[in-house]
Amino acid sequence: VYKDQHIASKNVANRIVNLIKRKQKNGETAVLGLATGATPVEVYAELVRMHREEGLSFSNVVTFNLDEYYPMTPDSRQSYVTFMYENLFDHIDIKKENIHIPDGTLNKEDIADYCIAYENKIGELGGLDLQILGIGRTGHIGFNEPGSAPNSGTRLVTLDDLTRRDASRDFGGKENVPTKAITMGIGTIFKASEIILMAWNTKKASIIKKAVEGEISGEVPATYLQLSDNTEFVLDEDAASELT
Ligand code: F6R
Repeated sequence: VYKDQHIASKNVANRIVNLIKRKQKNGETAVLGLATGATPVEVYAELVRMHREEGLSFSNVVTFNLDEYYPMTPDSRQSYVTFMYENLFDHIDIKKENIHIPDGTLNKEDIADYCIAYENKIGELGGLDLQILGIGRTGHIGFNEPGSAPNSGTRLVTLDDLTRRDASRDFGGKENVPTKAITMGIGTIFKASEIILMAWNTKKASIIKKAVEGEISGEVPATYLQLSDNTEFVLDEDAASELT
């Protein structure tokens, strides 16, 4: 638990930087699982600053994003592709071919094969070294909404009504928020060597309490992280305020 989200974000950024540098020294690739949304914005800003001011290179970094709305064109304002380029990729030296974000433009019948290929690509690179997560007010991680299975893989899912309501401002009304998304599964996330879940503000306090202290259940998918030995919750004081 950190005093505020600025200090917390800097710490998470430093963890990512240390991983990248350690891998660089060994001539290896750092495989990162990334999230979108408000929560990681300052982490990405700090990574951009380190690239600009301290010469941090991302040439050995491969990324896999957790999710994308479906359907969604990459050039839409609300796409997670737009988010990732605006907040991170446009400002660092990552190779374009090393960036992976679920494709929101697929035909429905091609999604299942695409999802298997997404999983396989992560596996071929030796798995995710570090997965960054936010948490939704439904308890979702990625877009694994209540009812998700602990061994679920990358797949097409239906978004919870609360998740669509929370996204409504970005889309100018809930009715414009896609009803579906492609997301990595709980099982995919669990295979990462390290997992960091971040949450800020009192808005997240009650779901953080459930995730950390509640009964493990598919009703709050983030509770599955209680079973993981390599997950850390990074919180500000407000998000931690309901923890006992
Ligand atoms: C985004 C994602 C979601 C968000 C969650 C919290 O890629 O996977 O699980 O992390 O909805 O969103 P914010 O950070 O906007 O509160």
